[in-house]
Amino acid sequence: MAEIHIVPKPVRCEATEGGFTLTPDTTIVAAGAAAPIGQQLAAALAPATGFWPKVVGESMRGAGVIRLRIERGLAGLGAEGYRLSVTPQQTTISAAQPAGLFYGVQSLRQLLPSAIFREAVVQGVDWTIPCVEIEDYPRFAWRGMMLDCCRHFMPKEFVKKFIDLLALHKYNTFHWHLTEDQGWRIEIKRYPRLTEVGAWRKETLVGRLEWRNPNYVEVYDGKPHGGFYTQDDIREIVAYAAARHVNVVPEIEMPGHAQAAIAAYPELGNTGEPIAVRTKWGISEHVFNVEESTILFLQNVLTEVLELFPSRFIHIGGDECPKAQWKASPAAQARMKELGLVNEEELQSYFIRRMDQFLTAHGRRLIGWDEILEGGLAPGATVMSWRGEAGGIAAARAGHDVVMAPNVWTYFDYYQAEDRDAEPLAIGGYISLEKAYSYEPIPAELTEAEARHVLGTQAQLWTEYMPDPKHVEYMAYPRGCAHAEVAWSPTAARDFADFQARLKTHLARLSILDVNYRRPQLP
Ligand code: ACM
Repeated sequence: MAEIHIVPKPVRCEATEGGFTLTPDTTIVAAGAAAPIGQQLAAALAPATGFWPKVVGESMRGAGVIRLRIERGLAGLGAEGYRLSVTPQQTTISAAQPAGLFYGVQSLRQLLPSAIFREAVVQGVDWTIPCVEIEDYPRFAWRGMMLDCCRHFMPKEFVKKFIDLLALHKYNTFHWHLTEDQGWRIEIKRYPRLTEVGAWRKETLVGRLEWRNPNYVEVYDGKPHGGFYTQDDIREIVAYAAARHVNVVPEIEMPGHAQAAIAAYPELGNTGEPIAVRTKWGISEHVFNVEESTILFLQNVLTEVLELFPSRFIHIGGDECPKAQWKASPAAQARMKELGLVNEEELQSYFIRRMDQFLTAHGRRLIGWDEILEGGLAPGATVMSWRGEAGGIAAARAGHDVVMAPNVWTYFDYYQAEDRDAEPLAIGGYISLEKAYSYEPIPAELTEAEARHVLGTQAQLWTEYMPDPKHVEYMAYPRGCAHAEVAWSPTAARDFADFQARLKTHLARLSILDVNYRRPQLP
């Protein structure tokens, strides 16, 4: 019997004898809402096989067909669940919604020989899909990966490849980190200096910033770095993602991580002094002021963001906002007094509440890093828990939705091996493949009712030490394969030894897809 090596592991999967063989006569039957997925399947099968299966709405043929069917009766599997049945006569994918069919197609691609991922005809391959009965659906609704395109700008073509890989692993959320101290990457028509000035930095620090070393001398590369996505680029990427059932959640950082924006518009800052886009890592002291004009500026930015991104969730950052400038600023202190706020944490909370009200009034939901809990959580806010699990636990207990992104399991900018000298420079930490695989997104402290607030989980790629796409791939995979299983597969199905066996086959697929994954030591 064929071994089934699907990543992430399906909920139920039973292989039987025999197989369904693709031939030049294979036809895809897909009507109505299933038709676009049928076209995607045809496009996925054609290049390597050289057969371009016809996609038809109806067929009397009982054999040699791949049927994709929307079946309302499968609603119990959820909006993303599917059934995949392969017999020697035909292959059938059925689901209540197109998203489920799409995931069935992702599994189907992984039932074929790895060569199916090639973009030119491969001769001499037996294109047989093993007979199997699969029933599958995700454990979590939020299965995300974040890419920081600010510390290092990532070209549009790579962002698309990144999304392709998310879809292959049944991730459905691309969290796109678009603004930072070191670069503002999204065109805003009303405020052109955000990208004219804010998208470019003079140079970049070489090596790791040594905070505590008194003899340390900073060395810079002397090379300008930058780039941004035009609104047309963004529409293109959002549509590309939507076709792959990936939702793009934009992140516009506030009130901290704002140095590039303040470099563009100094009146948004607290000192009025002209500053440059930041050229080293770490947290900038330059944060937005809390004047009404700044709140309106950022709401105007968000207005353009809402036009570009249909996502229900909009990420406003909220992390790592040093309070020194607000403490020193007479204007900030006067604002606190006027608003009756007792400390700077409450001022930050006020700021976030204003954004929560704005987004809620526009039918969206605010999500922010767990610092938004400090000084009081805005009523509609969802929390992304990164400093361990504590923020997620506190928010879920308070009845707020959470996405679990704790650094110790999900920060894929951390080293992948214990021996750091044998690895490219990384930010610190250590997350082995096994550790990434072992993550349990529901904190043990939560009751069942509280746990229902855990929407899901997400892996992070901060790019201080990832200067280019190949390096991002090196850090993202194969840990991203492990995290996909954390987010999709039932707890009971998780078994690291079994995962490693499947990974061996899966890495052959990633090699063909030109993914520069880190080679793991597999048994
Ligand atoms: C974060 O890592 N500052 C969210």
